[in-house]
Amino acid sequence: GSTPVIVAIDGPAGSGKSSVSRAVAKALGFAYLDTGASYRALSWHLMVRGIDAAQASDVVAELPNFDFRIGTDPDDYYVRVGSADVTEAIREPRVTGVVSLVARIPEVRRWLNERFRMIMAGTPFDGIVAEGRDITTVVAPDAPVRILLTATEDARMARRSKELTSESAAAVGEALRSRDKADSRVVDFMNAADGVTTVDSTDLDFEQTVSAVVEVVQTARTSHGG
Ligand code: CDP
Ligand code: CDP
Repeated sequence: GSTPVIVAIDGPAGSGKSSVSRAVAKALGFAYLDTGASYRALSWHLMVRGIDAAQASDVVAELPNFDFRIGTDPDDYYVRVGSADVTEAIREPRVTGVVSLVARIPEVRRWLNERFRMIMAGTPFDGIVAEGRDITTVVAPDAPVRILLTATEDARMARRSKELTSESAAAVGEALRSRDKADSRVVDFMNAADGVTTVDSTDLDFEQTVSAVVEVVQTARTSHGG
């Protein structure tokens, strides 16, 4: 068929990227690519192999053994490493705690970005919603639709602590802040790059955020004559 429409979405933790992107993909009949899940899957893999994520050369040497698959059908989302289904395991705090160390290694980013571009180009869907931290700037800077999804730190922390009832809100907030800080040193996802549309979800509920993003996509497609 024709070239898939790429919708690139970036933003900090808790801005609603994953949940909103998946719903937007469903609404548009597009595929959904969760790039953060790949960084998490690599972190999980290293943990299982007993490799220290802080040792960049050890991590890079392990890349050829990292066999991951990610479901891009929004109705069939999964993450696998080898034969293990890690969809749930990659959300565990012990994974979240090391993922920024893995994500700061340039060779890791280049290696994963190549795979993301292959997944996007090869999708059987009419388009693909890809979300992460550097999709609008590095992975797909030429995408016809580029969105920065933001929300105040308070709103993002409140959403996260609602999800993780076993952890105290303060601990969740601190973990989220330090992860965003570490990630921000590697790629800028707090400021919209040139041509990127900001959607601030602070005062929007989930459905309103999905509608706002779908509207940005429709507007961009209309103005591109597509
Ligand atoms: O969903 P949440 O905001 O918790 O994070 P995620 O999207 O699952 O991403 C997990 C981690 O992967 C981030 O904290 C970053 O360290 C890294 N990441 C990245 O560096 N670049 C991306 N495009 C996506 C994620
Ligand atoms: O992927 P990211 O870390 O950016 O966020 P997420 O995991 O998709 O969203 C975090 C939580 O916020 C989810 O439970 C969403 O349903 C919720 N959310 C919300 O309450 N209001 C919004 N406008 C957007 C998301």
